[in-house]
Amino acid sequence: SSKTIKCCASARPEYIPNRIPDPLYVRIFDTTLRDGEQSPGATMTSKEKLDIARQLAKLGVDIIEAGFPAASKDDLEAVKTIAMEVGNDVDETGYVPVICGLARCNRADIDAAWEAVKHAKRPRIHTFIATSEIHMKHKLRKSREEVIQIARDMVSYARSLGCQDVEFSPEDAGRSEKEFLYQILEEVIKAGATTLNIPDTVGCLLEDEFAQLIADIKANTPGIENVIISTHCQNDLGQASGNTIAGARAGARQLEVTINGIGERAGNASLEEVVMAIKTRGKAIMGGLYTGINTKHIFMTSKMVTEYSGLPVQPHKAIVGANAFSHESGIHQDGMLKFKGTYEIMSPEDIGLYRSNDSGIVLGKLSGRHALRSRLLELGYELDSKEFDDLFWRFKTVAEKKKHISDGDIEALILDEIFQP
Ligand code: KIV
Repeated sequence: SSKTIKCCASARPEYIPNRIPDPLYVRIFDTTLRDGEQSPGATMTSKEKLDIARQLAKLGVDIIEAGFPAASKDDLEAVKTIAMEVGNDVDETGYVPVICGLARCNRADIDAAWEAVKHAKRPRIHTFIATSEIHMKHKLRKSREEVIQIARDMVSYARSLGCQDVEFSPEDAGRSEKEFLYQILEEVIKAGATTLNIPDTVGCLLEDEFAQLIADIKANTPGIENVIISTHCQNDLGQASGNTIAGARAGARQLEVTINGIGERAGNASLEEVVMAIKTRGKAIMGGLYTGINTKHIFMTSKMVTEYSGLPVQPHKAIVGANAFSHESGIHQDGMLKFKGTYEIMSPEDIGLYRSNDSGIVLGKLSGRHALRSRLLELGYELDSKEFDDLFWRFKTVAEKKKHISDGDIEALILDEIFQP
């Protein structure tokens, strides 16, 4: 598009680990480059990852999870480069994203993560261990006591390396016993964790259950008032974005998301859905929650991730799908031509999408007279009522056969109208 996008100053308060600057501010933690890259077939080159990290910084995400450094030498190098470049690029408002690396709860992973992220101005290590019975018994083959001990030791180990910002995730929290969760979370807070992330790893919870889980953790974990509670929702039942919003309403102040919702299996909560839900409904029903995202960069970021990951976005995907701001039925088109608010709860410009046709009207067999007349005027044709009537019925005949009617089709119909005997 030839339109220039004006950057507005970020609304983000200064981020200081262990302190909560504004209770209504919701941090956006983007894991496109880590969990998103775990989508089958989505591996990206180091250069592509660096480009995406730069774009995420432009978008204003608070924390970029840049990868899993222990997974491969290449990933360690990619995270290190992002930490050195994007993690030191402080803008005029003082904003620079936190650069985070994932690590299992073992020394080798934590060493690799620190080696990669320590170059950033705001480095973070994110360490995790499973806490559900099914994972502890079949995957880890460890008792609850052993798991608590490992989690506590590894959080303190990460802190001992000089990392002041350590996130801990009890993997499969959605299926973990709550009393056990309170216990392990209390221990990792004492060991120095600054963010507690609560993953619904298998995406099995429904909104009220996930909200209750966050509320219960908030109410029952000693020391929780000194740390940030975070959500990480997988999309196996198509609930990820809704659960994430429910988590924020229950007290979470960091939300883990990916661009276009990419990620393991059915993916993750999608950044664009979560951020636009907070932007459009935050004041009305969330007590004024807000994020620091500059939403004007959402569309470009989505395009970049589609291109680099090779994962296309479905046309009806909320916010960034090709049809998200298109109107096909005659009744909707008539409403849109009279007042855009009739069928649009946000404007496409809010996400940086500039439509060539201002009302997003797609001419097809369901379009009415109002839509056709308005398109004709936009194309510079003013027809008298008899000519218009003839044209309208010929347009309907063509539209019965073609999915979409282009401007070229309309011009061909007009030529026919002019030259018909
Ligand atoms: O889904 C999950 O549990 C994760 C954790 C590492 C946060 O990705």
